[in-house]
Amino acid sequence: MPDMEQAAKEAFTKWRGDADRVIVARAPGRVNLVGDHTDYNDGLVLPMILDRAVYVAARLSLDGRTHHLWSENYREGVTYSPEQWPRVRPGHWASYIAGMIQELPPPGPIELLVMGNVPLGAGLSSSAALEMATGLALEALRGKSVPPLDLAQIGQRVEHRYAGVKCGIMDQIVSRAGRTGHALFLDCHTLKWEHIPIRSEGIQFLVIDSRVRRQLATSKYNERRAECQKALQCIQASDAAITSLRYAGTHHVDELKESVFQRRIRHVISENKRVEEACSAVIRSDWSTLGRILSLSHESLREDYEVSCEEMDFLAAYAESLPGVFGARMMGGGFGGCTINLVRSGDGSAVAASVTAAYEGKYKQKPTSHIIGTGLEAGCSYD
Ligand code: GLA
Repeated sequence: MPDMEQAAKEAFTKWRGDADRVIVARAPGRVNLVGDHTDYNDGLVLPMILDRAVYVAARLSLDGRTHHLWSENYREGVTYSPEQWPRVRPGHWASYIAGMIQELPPPGPIELLVMGNVPLGAGLSSSAALEMATGLALEALRGKSVPPLDLAQIGQRVEHRYAGVKCGIMDQIVSRAGRTGHALFLDCHTLKWEHIPIRSEGIQFLVIDSRVRRQLATSKYNERRAECQKALQCIQASDAAITSLRYAGTHHVDELKESVFQRRIRHVISENKRVEEACSAVIRSDWSTLGRILSLSHESLREDYEVSCEEMDFLAAYAESLPGVFGARMMGGGFGGCTINLVRSGDGSAVAASVTAAYEGKYKQKPTSHIIGTGLEAGCSYD
């Protein structure tokens, strides 16, 4: 049993006294190569899984009456009876678990421990990983499997209802269905995906965490979604055939007056195009093209979608000024979090050291960084 799964069982034993009949499920966090703020516009995305995951160790409650939840990372427990809702705020770690339990009721109350090494709140989808790992554990306890797409949609619903984030579907799908050594090319309209092999001999992907966490990120994210809805209505006023921004064209952008809506649509259209181009660049192992696409994506997220921030702009621009860097961009919902950097093989550590020193000098805050591996797939293990 891999180390983290073993550690989850040991932590469970410490918590409950033994780990008899415990199952351990895991689901990874993600990075997104390109395709941000496109998923909830029926668009295209190209994420890949991390080799960091959320682990859930669970079994039916021995007392037969109460749900017992424990977070090893927060060192905090929550207990509640199945007829009630736990007394936690929306977005609290236990709210995701309770939401999944609500959606996929186990045959009785459960004991569930969660731990993981996906940085929390850093835009690496720790919450989607928590939903998917909990979902897999519940599938095992129910003795009934759930198709990956259905589980992803359940996770998305939990995020909407119990965390108040009106997220798209990208994070849950890639966490549940992403494959080692592959990016996942996902069409968020048809909800079909394809695994794209990454021949990474010549390159490394480096993730740099700005450590910026903004409280307003959730509300700004929901605000962008609402703006896209309004932008769509502007287009539909003259062209009712357009059912989502995915199908808007550049002529629609040209027809609109210079406005927030025009800029939002322009991002969505150009970002979808970049995902298609990035996908063929990955297939050809054409890293300089992929690097250029990352830079253009950052620019569009900064100028047209307005979800970047000074620190992320600095991280991306500084990295791109260094030798061996093909391209860099902010990633995920925005307003803080991480950049993804495409770096020539062997240069990752030097680039990380250089960016860290420059960022620390300017912002008096040390970013964390890691070179990502081939990714750890979601799964479940029994004794
Ligand atoms: C968050 C959401 C995703 C997606 C990204 C932006 O990660 O959970 O659904 O919208 O932001 O691309």
